Amino acid sequence: MSRILSGIQPSGVLHIGNYFAMMKQMIRFQEDHELFCFIVNYHAMTSLHDKKELRDNTVSAVLDFLALGLDPEKTHFWIQSDVPEVTELTWILGCHTSLGLLERSHSYKDKIAKGIQPSCGLFTYPVLMAADILLYQAEVIPVGKDQKQHIEITRDIAERFNNVYGDTFVLPAPMISDDIAVIPGIDGLKMSKSYGNTLNIFEEEKSLKKKVMKIVTDSKGVEEPKDPATCNLFAIYRLFADSDKQEAMKDRYQQGGLGYGEVKKELFSMIWEYFRPYRDKREEFAKDPGEILAIMKNGAEKTRKVAAETLDIVKDRVGLKYL
Ligand code: ADP
Ligand code: TRP
Repeated sequence: MSRILSGIQPSGVLHIGNYFAMMKQMIRFQEDHELFCFIVNYHAMTSLHDKKELRDNTVSAVLDFLALGLDPEKTHFWIQSDVPEVTELTWILGCHTSLGLLERSHSYKDKIAKGIQPSCGLFTYPVLMAADILLYQAEVIPVGKDQKQHIEITRDIAERFNNVYGDTFVLPAPMISDDIAVIPGIDGLKMSKSYGNTLNIFEEEKSLKKKVMKIVTDSKGVEEPKDPATCNLFAIYRLFADSDKQEAMKDRYQQGGLGYGEVKKELFSMIWEYFRPYRDKREEFAKDPGEILAIMKNGAEKTRKVAAETLDIVKDRVGLKYL
């Protein structure tokens, strides 16, 4: 039974890209794997400096996971900052990480290009992520394609540490499904909280409909045959359709006589129905904030035990342990 770990930033409201690339798989794995799943609020702080927003998004992400079926009894489910051991390990790893390795980070360069202030925290983001993974000796990390380099950096850091101090960390492997590696947003670019192009999992009905109708397509007329392979509307549609429905829609695209507006209406209904049972569950959870806090407190306590074990070994190996 391998140990699977992944985290999600509460830097905004969670969207269907997060769901299909990461959350759905994680929830499935809880049945037959040792699962570690957490809300990475320290990471979100690299781009978000608003107390209320950070807090609200964090609680909202917890509710999303619970509503979608994550079972805190079967898993380790916690909020990153509730296990502060991770920041200690981050410092230790940071002292063993070359500047060059971090300077090559695509994610850092992309974020700066988008206007995020280049803080010290943003630059060392991958070290905190390495600490997240190595602290729990995780073996498999389900993520979208944008996180591949971060896992490679984690492996580099772990290998270097193991070479200097002897075998300490498990080397993690990314798990990236090819067909959902990058889910497009309504503008055709990667769907991302920071691009304002998302379809949110628990979006309000009117706003969801409006956003689906805005999905960018080419300008082919109704009668013209269309190409599903290059169409981001279809790329989103297929996430909600079984293979028969996908094939039928591909045929309708290729035959002509199908307007994009019609596809969008169908897509909206499919998204709305897909998340309906989870929406109901989320409303139930939201009625009892005390219970949610208790779940997170238990999750942190359970997880801290695992974190403390690794940290103790690491501190001993590097010469930081005296007692
Ligand atoms: P965002 O880019 O919206 O801030 P995160 O960085 O919190 O999302 O990503 C959480 C998880 O969801 C990661 O595993 C990431 O790779 C995945 N993910 C996010 N957006 C997409 C997308 N558009 N396509 C595929 N995977 C995605
Ligand atoms: N950097 C990841 C993202 O933006 C979030 C993350 C933080 C993460 N720590 C992690 C993902 C550990 C997997 C494992 O999506």
